[in-house]
Amino acid sequence: MTVRKAVIPVAGLGTRFLPATKAQPKEMLPLVDKPVIQYIVEEAVAAGIKQIIFVTGRHKRAIEDHFDRNLELERNLEEKGKEELLKIVREIPDMADFIYIRQKEPLGLGHAILTAEPAVGNEPFAVLLGDDVMVSEPPAIRQLIEVYNRFRCSVIGLQRVPEEEVEKYGIVGGKEVDEEVLKLDELVEKPRREEAPSNLAIAGRYVLTPGIFDALRKTPPGRGGEIQLTDAIQLLNSREAIYGRILKVSRYDTGDKLGFLQATVDFALMREDLREPFLKFLKKRVKKEMKDGGDG
Ligand code: UTP
Repeated sequence: MTVRKAVIPVAGLGTRFLPATKAQPKEMLPLVDKPVIQYIVEEAVAAGIKQIIFVTGRHKRAIEDHFDRNLELERNLEEKGKEELLKIVREIPDMADFIYIRQKEPLGLGHAILTAEPAVGNEPFAVLLGDDVMVSEPPAIRQLIEVYNRFRCSVIGLQRVPEEEVEKYGIVGGKEVDEEVLKLDELVEKPRREEAPSNLAIAGRYVLTPGIFDALRKTPPGRGGEIQLTDAIQLLNSREAIYGRILKVSRYDTGDKLGFLQATVDFALMREDLREPFLKFLKKRVKKEMKDGGDG
């Protein structure tokens, strides 16, 4: 069966980005002029996904509104002859079918995925974290779907991280079965450095078989008292093979302040209309920093 559905969990509290996230979702923060969440949806759609299932929470209404029509705005743009903007606004709700499910309490990423079960049903599905932006061709989630199509097993997106950072991630161990593809034998959430099986970190993209739901139901709360998706995948691994794919992407953790700033700079530089004046500003800014004794 092909992967037709994607779950995008967006029910987290975004505490790393307070106070900006006190009353608005971190997923709606813009990279230049487009909210982070739209880049994620565009990646899924470019990979052939037809249905997007958002796992939302309180304070996430803005996401639903963004992927809905705004008739008042459309009428206004029409009357003023702003055709280009009208096209941009009208295309958003037509990108895919959108379904929303509430996670009543933020009990962890694993719990958020389990909440999506009624909308996913008994078929393989993609997971894209709502704040993890990836730029690549083919799209990151497509790279995983290709491996899924070969093995018909769950596939986890991976990225190498510096040894001293393994404690911040879910880390995997396994054997390479093909270029950049591993068969996994171990998954641990935020291991101590000396216990990490490798420096390969789980990176915000998954293709999962529906067997994950049963594994999630049997997974007790782990790190931070949350139901960890990593723990459930480790449990699933005792019943089904799990593969990992080292992603060829530029990745930005936009839920982190520094990651968000880096993404903002890179996305502005990718924009034809902004590249030149922005680069000019940056060069001037860096020159001044250097002159004033910045560490460069
Ligand atoms: P994060 O830990 O990055 O998100 O969770 P967070 O909890 O919103 O952020 P901080 O750490 O407080 O700043 C990874 C993903 O899982 C979702 C988040 O929305 C994010 O996309 N998530 C996390 C849920 O949907 N529900 C949860 O209970 C926890």
